[in-house]
Amino acid sequence: MDVISVIRTKRDRGRLSDEQIDWVVDAYTRGEVADEQMSALAMAIFLNGMDRAEIARWTAAMIASGERMDFSALSRPTADKHSTGGVGDKITLPLAPLVAACGAAVPQLSGRGLGHTGGTLDKLEAIPGWRANLTNAEMMRTLEDVGAVVCAPGSGLAPADKKLYALRDVTATVECIPLIASSIMSKKIAEGTGSLVLDVKVGSGAFMKELGAARELARTMVGLGADHGLPTVALLTDMNTPLGLTAGNALEVRESVEVLAGGGPADVVELTLALAREMLDAAGLKDADPAKALADGSAMDAWRGMIAAQGGDPLAPLPTARETHVVTAAESGVLTRLDAMGVGLAAWRLGAGRARKEDPVQAAAGVELHAKPGDSVFAGQALMTLHTDTPERFAYALEALAGSYDIAPADTPFTAAPIVLE
Ligand code: URA
Repeated sequence: MDVISVIRTKRDRGRLSDEQIDWVVDAYTRGEVADEQMSALAMAIFLNGMDRAEIARWTAAMIASGERMDFSALSRPTADKHSTGGVGDKITLPLAPLVAACGAAVPQLSGRGLGHTGGTLDKLEAIPGWRANLTNAEMMRTLEDVGAVVCAPGSGLAPADKKLYALRDVTATVECIPLIASSIMSKKIAEGTGSLVLDVKVGSGAFMKELGAARELARTMVGLGADHGLPTVALLTDMNTPLGLTAGNALEVRESVEVLAGGGPADVVELTLALAREMLDAAGLKDADPAKALADGSAMDAWRGMIAAQGGDPLAPLPTARETHVVTAAESGVLTRLDAMGVGLAAWRLGAGRARKEDPVQAAAGVELHAKPGDSVFAGQALMTLHTDTPERFAYALEALAGSYDIAPADTPFTAAPIVLE
């Protein structure tokens, strides 16, 4: 087999054979196929697509590139959730302990933020002492004792995806349904969860901007789960507006703790409960009541146990930024639009995200929103507070926010978009 003929097949809109797929994924993982050759193939796939059978084989080859975990020894059923990525998407933080408090085990292998979307590990690392790397034995122990673990995947899990995702990120080949679906599902199937709930984001702050494309991505992933005996359901959820009132690592931890304490923004609570119900159903725990677990403090207890099990101090004060800048409303009226991409880019530029995967992030940087679409505002009122340790970044963040919100006359009718679209 030679890589040039594989690239040529896809460049010329052909179908990759099972043998070609198995070989190229394995040879790339071993370093026999070079990054520049895989970049060319990824771009050919981006432009010409893959059919269902090719995607299934590509996913299987990525799973086979590494180890598979096995949670069958646990006394609890396992359920996991994966979001395709959004702005202010801190849902994993309240969701994992909530579902654990209801009796399931949640083995969340999570990632770091890149570009305008935040990463769950970066958020949790804002908590003093918390560490993302666990051995398999530590993970099993915490899952049995506490019921939830959020950690970095070991290097042995779908190593083909690890290499390919980093390459796609720097070759403009991320937003491609066959590559996203195989990337997410290879990791989740190799992880060994007993059931999976997907939160497929749609809108300006998501990889999928249109409902039709998001639906196709969701159906492709649900089908891949079924192929591998992994019960998978998907919700399509709105990502035109940031979730909740914060985008940034420590800011989002603070908001998640508010949700676990029985408060927090209504959209974060609604989506957390909707995903929790799906996960508990999928895990066979249909009688569990996640709303009760939020109200009675048991989800908060699970959160504290989960953070402490990974070295974190759940009661320690969270870091705060050295500088803040308040953005005010230029006129009175009703806020009718607040663009997720604009807010995500602003948080990123303030230091909450990274431009290259080896860059550090600022724990305290980000955007705190004081109004959401539908809210009445008056001229001079604070719309958002920008947080950073490096005030020279304010100007770049303000550039990202320019044109990303609209204030209409006070009598303008406004209908809020639902969070869960389908
Ligand atoms: N998240 C992933 O894990 N992979 C992708 O390709 C996109 C989002």
